[in-house]
Amino acid sequence: MKVHELVARCALARESADPMKSVRGVLEDLRGDIAEIERTLGYISGVGGNARQVFYRSPDLTLLKVCFPNGRRTPPHDHGAWATILLLSGEEKNTLYRRDNGALRKASQVTLTPGSILTMRADTVHVAECLSDKPAIGLHVYGGDIFELPRRMWNPETLEEHALDWALYENFARIASKAASAPAP
Ligand SMILES: [Fe+2]
Repeated sequence: MKVHELVARCALARESADPMKSVRGVLEDLRGDIAEIERTLGYISGVGGNARQVFYRSPDLTLLKVCFPNGRRTPPHDHGAWATILLLSGEEKNTLYRRDNGALRKASQVTLTPGSILTMRADTVHVAECLSDKPAIGLHVYGGDIFELPRRMWNPETLEEHALDWALYENFARIASKAASAPAP
């Protein structure tokens, strides 16, 4: 599969009446081809922030290849849009939060293995971490331009809310990665 074919499938699903469900359907159909998709996206590093992860960006759709190395844990963050992840390789734990009167509350957790799909609504906050020795690599599809949408992140120690700022995000990621686990308020 070529990159433009992957983009075309997701972009067509984005035009449907229920884009989140339709995009999930596209990713379900791709489950048998995850090795090929990983080869196709081999030219994207996936490490070093969204700018080195993106391979398609438009006002209503962003496509990323995201690579979390061993030991990497994100701070709690949202995406400003719904999101669907298809894990291509490795193992990735996701801790999901809801907001309760503005405060984060842990809602659930799910561990993704190759072929697993996770869908998050626009108001979902999560922490992602690599559980495997090798990197956790995923295809991420977002229902908006996540480079422009207002997004939030939380200090992993104090759970203070911030507007997304990449320099501060990396600082928070270093702190989060040293902790024993994702915050569990
Ligand atoms: Fe995320």
